[in-house]
Amino acid sequence: MNARLTPAVTNPELDAFWMPFTANRQFKANPRLLARAKGMYYSTADGREVLDGVAGLWCVNAGHGRREITEAVTKQLETMEFAPTFQMGHPIAFELANRLAKIAPPGLDRIFFTNSGSESVDTALKIAIAYHRARGAGQRTRLIGREKGYHGVGFGGMSVGGMVNNRKFFGSSMLPGVDHLTHTLDHEHNAFSRGIPQWGAHLANELERLIALHDASTIAAVIVEPVAGSAGVVLPPAGYLKRLREICDKHDILLIFDEVITGFGRVGKAFAALAFDVTPDLITTAKGLTNGAIPMGAVFSQRKIYDAFMQGPENSIELFHGYTYSAHPVACAAALATQDIYAKEGLLTRAAALSAPWENAVHSLRGLPHVIDIRNYGLIGAVELEPRPGKPGARGFDVFLKCFERGVMVRQTGDTIAMAPPLVIEPKQIERIVETLGAVIRETD
Ligand SMILES: Cc1ncc(COP(=O)(O)O)c(C=O)c1O
Repeated sequence: MNARLTPAVTNPELDAFWMPFTANRQFKANPRLLARAKGMYYSTADGREVLDGVAGLWCVNAGHGRREITEAVTKQLETMEFAPTFQMGHPIAFELANRLAKIAPPGLDRIFFTNSGSESVDTALKIAIAYHRARGAGQRTRLIGREKGYHGVGFGGMSVGGMVNNRKFFGSSMLPGVDHLTHTLDHEHNAFSRGIPQWGAHLANELERLIALHDASTIAAVIVEPVAGSAGVVLPPAGYLKRLREICDKHDILLIFDEVITGFGRVGKAFAALAFDVTPDLITTAKGLTNGAIPMGAVFSQRKIYDAFMQGPENSIELFHGYTYSAHPVACAAALATQDIYAKEGLLTRAAALSAPWENAVHSLRGLPHVIDIRNYGLIGAVELEPRPGKPGARGFDVFLKCFERGVMVRQTGDTIAMAPPLVIEPKQIERIVETLGAVIRETD
């Protein structure tokens, strides 16, 4: 490499870690180092308290530093740190699957374990394609995603995803045979909607157009986030998800809900599928499954899908897919302890009780300079700012940084500030997040 093109070392202690989804040079020049966490708060390496407005990264639903999880993980490490799940099993993997099956939407009681949201998505896409093949419809391989969708960073998830920056650097290295629905974000009709927007159910009919174009016989599955988080919180218009379900049923196409952020209580029920009363064929999860303590994901499958694979000689492997760490014992222990906490503290439904004060709080920011939309559902909120001319994302980034300096952590996507606090948040902490964000917006040009 031409030496003149090698950038100067920014910070010798920090340069070795190539940080994900991060402005590495900016960060390393002005690091934001988190050192400890307890309850609703992080502490920085220099000892400042930061109120967590985004549950780490949409995952720490029960709050930080939960002793029950630490103890379960420690005990499991001492008992058996690893066991394979290829042609072998260990009891707590089955215990966890049974436990999850009990809180799953109707019928989704077959659980495949992964280590992340991205792996859950790629697993679900592969299951969908292999399912059709298993029942003699092997030509159904096409996948339909949606603009502004985020389904992780594997080649499958990237291909069905619809966020331009996550796609454009990887050129044509996408899965073939993928198409996208239009997204449902519409400022003209829906800006400042409280909760679910009323306009836009008809956007689901676009699926009929794609089916007419490709023919249903080529389509394996449609994947959408019931509520999209990463693209800056995009809500489904009233009736939209039901309509998608009807069209998928009519054409024998599987419907996958990516619930990596909505799963485990974020929207006031265990799953968004329950909150919207729409039952998909597969659900992808991760994040809140273990409260973020140990990486783990899970795909929930309708029993009919699992059953379709259970044929042929009994000693043959039915699905050639899995990870060394699928159902890792330590992750299972963390997940079981997490589910205990959720059940004991009613956290899977707590967001429903908090959603009205949360909605009022985030919508109180309406009318502040540059605020062009506010969106909310469950314990999710987003404030969208007008981009600075020619500098998309700059205003949002400034607001994110200033909030952090003032002791509140939020997420920024472009010029949208997203919030999704731990589900244990108290009303006073909601006030603090929103007051801080409001003050910062007021003074940011
Ligand atoms: C809806 C959705 N799917 C998939 C993912 C990817 O999860 P992971 O980062 O654990 O791979 C995310 C992460 O934010 C997500 O929000």
